Amino acid sequence: MSEYAQLIIDGKEHTLPVIEGSEGEKAIDIRSLRNSTGYITFDPGFGNTGTCRSAITYMDGEKGILRYRGIPIEHLAEHSTFVETAYLLITGKLPTNDELTNTSVMLNDFSLLHENMKVFYQNYPPKAHPMGILSAMVNAMRSFYPELVDIDEELNKTFLRLISKIRTMAAMAYRISMGHQPVTPRPDYCYCANFLHMMFDSAVVPYVKDDDLVKALNVFWILHADHEQNCSTTAVRVVGSGKVNIYATISAGISALWGPLHGGANQAVINMLETIHKNGMSIEEAVARARDKQDPFRLMGFGHRVYKTYDPRGKIMKQMCDIILGKLKINDPLLDIARKLEEVALEDNYFQEKNLYPNVDFYAGIVLRAMGIPTNMFTVMFAIGRLPGWIAQWKEDLTDPEMKISRPRQIYSGNTISDYIPIHKR
Ligand code: ACO
Repeated sequence: MSEYAQLIIDGKEHTLPVIEGSEGEKAIDIRSLRNSTGYITFDPGFGNTGTCRSAITYMDGEKGILRYRGIPIEHLAEHSTFVETAYLLITGKLPTNDELTNTSVMLNDFSLLHENMKVFYQNYPPKAHPMGILSAMVNAMRSFYPELVDIDEELNKTFLRLISKIRTMAAMAYRISMGHQPVTPRPDYCYCANFLHMMFDSAVVPYVKDDDLVKALNVFWILHADHEQNCSTTAVRVVGSGKVNIYATISAGISALWGPLHGGANQAVINMLETIHKNGMSIEEAVARARDKQDPFRLMGFGHRVYKTYDPRGKIMKQMCDIILGKLKINDPLLDIARKLEEVALEDNYFQEKNLYPNVDFYAGIVLRAMGIPTNMFTVMFAIGRLPGWIAQWKEDLTDPEMKISRPRQIYSGNTISDYIPIHKR
């Protein structure tokens, strides 16, 4: 055995194999632990647990590195498009010209929704959160598009169908929540421009394509396209491991993403900045409250389970924020608060000691706001971006001979065996 770990329990030595990834990260393979020792490992939140081998995304939280299929996120953000990046994540390689054209044609072909699906929208309460609508609609796709997904061609069609229709569904959820008629997609527009068209086109003010905003949206979605085994991706892998259909699996990912500690943080950041602004709270007071353990207030958009330095996506998002606000000549007081907050928090002992840096969500909300995206749609924007990652991870699981149904163990801490007492005697 090349490298191994030794574990001593009650004086007895156990040898466990060590696995090494392609970037040198190491893991102790404990798959035989319970059978050979009767022990399990205890790791709430899975902070030290590897659940799969994956060739999709590499991140180094200490160095602030993020790469999709080996390509640095900075290069993709600068040179690629969201559709090309989605292709890269799902297939494992960059597309040729023909492959990219073919993908775009199929995305156009699949962009309309089944007429009966539209009826659902009309019956949602007007204040329904678009994330709830989106996860339900994606789940409903299984009934509307029940085609088999067990041969490659059909599988790829399903992926593109999902990527195309999620954009139509999201725009439609917004239009209906505003009491407006849905807008049909335009085949001559690229993926991102088509989304903005479906969101904002109207008879009174027709949508006019702006290349800078289209670029900003491409970058936003590229940055969100995958992030290895985060909360929603883990939900996707866990739910998918039961071999449920892909639509139900992605719907579970959307639900997991909704939470404010995860994808919901972009909305929570804006809410926090608005609270600071409206209440005239000083930046120092906000930082002091975030430090106070008795106060539930946290600096949303700060901190990350893996990054212990600046989130590389946050850096790109910050630059994008400056470009877009400059171009649109927007003077957003929330941006001033965000900049000051970042400055003060980065100098603060508490944030330094705990390695709390701005994450991707910190500036994302301000970029989306400048683009005219309403706050309750922010997490939906994240979901559209994350979809190729979820698909790639689900696909990887499907073909991984090591994968089994997810079924963790627990340490039981409840009552030991107890008598049942009939109700009249309690
Ligand atoms: N503000 C104030 N204190 C914080 C913050 C914050 N934003 N984040 C972490 N801390 C503190 C915790 O109170 C904890 O302190 P303790 O050691 O004294 O108990 C310590 O830092 C470690 O934090 P944990 O919550 O234990 O770290 P974990 O890795 O479990 O959580 C998380 C990471 C959920 C992202 C956390 O930093 C957080 O809640 N941030 C705000 C929400 C947010 O921005 N989420 C988006 C993440 S990025 C994404 O999902 C796309």
